[in-house]
Amino acid sequence: MPTLLITGANRGIGLELTRSFAKDGWRVHACCRDPGGANELNTLDGTVVVHRLDVTDGAAVAALARELAGEAIDILFNNAGVYGPRTGFAETDYDAWEPVFSINVFAPLRLAECFVAHVARSDRKLILNMSSVMGSIAEGGGGSYIYRASKAAVNMITKTLSVDLAGQGITVVAFHPGWVQTDMGGSHATVSVRDSVKGLRHIIAGLSSEDNGGFFAYDGRKLPW
Ligand SMILES: NC(=O)c1ccc[n+]([C@@H]2O[C@H](COP(=O)([O-])OP(=O)(O)OC[C@H]3O[C@@H](n4cnc5c(N)ncnc54)[C@H](OP(=O)(O)O)[C@@H]3O)[C@@H](O)[C@H]2O)c1
Repeated sequence: MPTLLITGANRGIGLELTRSFAKDGWRVHACCRDPGGANELNTLDGTVVVHRLDVTDGAAVAALARELAGEAIDILFNNAGVYGPRTGFAETDYDAWEPVFSINVFAPLRLAECFVAHVARSDRKLILNMSSVMGSIAEGGGGSYIYRASKAAVNMITKTLSVDLAGQGITVVAFHPGWVQTDMGGSHATVSVRDSVKGLRHIIAGLSSEDNGGFFAYDGRKLPW
């Protein structure tokens, strides 16, 4: 049975990815901060194992990796993310940088370091980092300094991991899921969670080592860094 481990599985894009993979017969290790409050996640059909995981808790990430030692994880999906304060130039809250970077940047690297052996022993050998076009230096706009910088940083981590893990046959890519109707994306967002996940699933199905170190939008577009 192919296996996915995903963070931020209790709502938004992570919940829909979990639903979609579980429906297709995957075993999903679905990680979230508060399993007790994850009502939709807890009632999904399929083989969904819910784990309590705050991605900023290094000891908890390491403990989960030990608990799953020996298992093959085909896809490690670093999906959990936060936007941080929605502020513009001259409004920056400097205390807000660390928590956003801790979730959006440090955690994907930490999970890759803790779960590399699980991924290496799988068939698909994929590490997927949920980024954003807002982290593209080539396509970026103004404002949202902290979020943009955090996604640019996770893009660099994606690229660097793609070099370091290529020898183990692991493919590492970054995704832009579209502007999606979630708590983060808001009600004016243009892409439904279902369409975003449908697009992402289509790309994931076709990923090979030739895509290692790439940055893809949910609609298949290859994005510039
Ligand atoms: N929506 C968009 O338009 C859009 C666009 C580009 C990129 N993205 C990216 O896509 C990913 C998913 O976003 P979304 O739209 O689904 O957002 P969302 O609905 O706000 O969900 C965010 C998820 O991240 C989890 N999370 C936050 N901090 C965490 C932590 N410390 N430990 C574990 N989980 C944590 C949340 O859990 P709690 O419920 O516990 O808070 C929630 O499950 C993010 O990386 C985001 O940056 C989204």
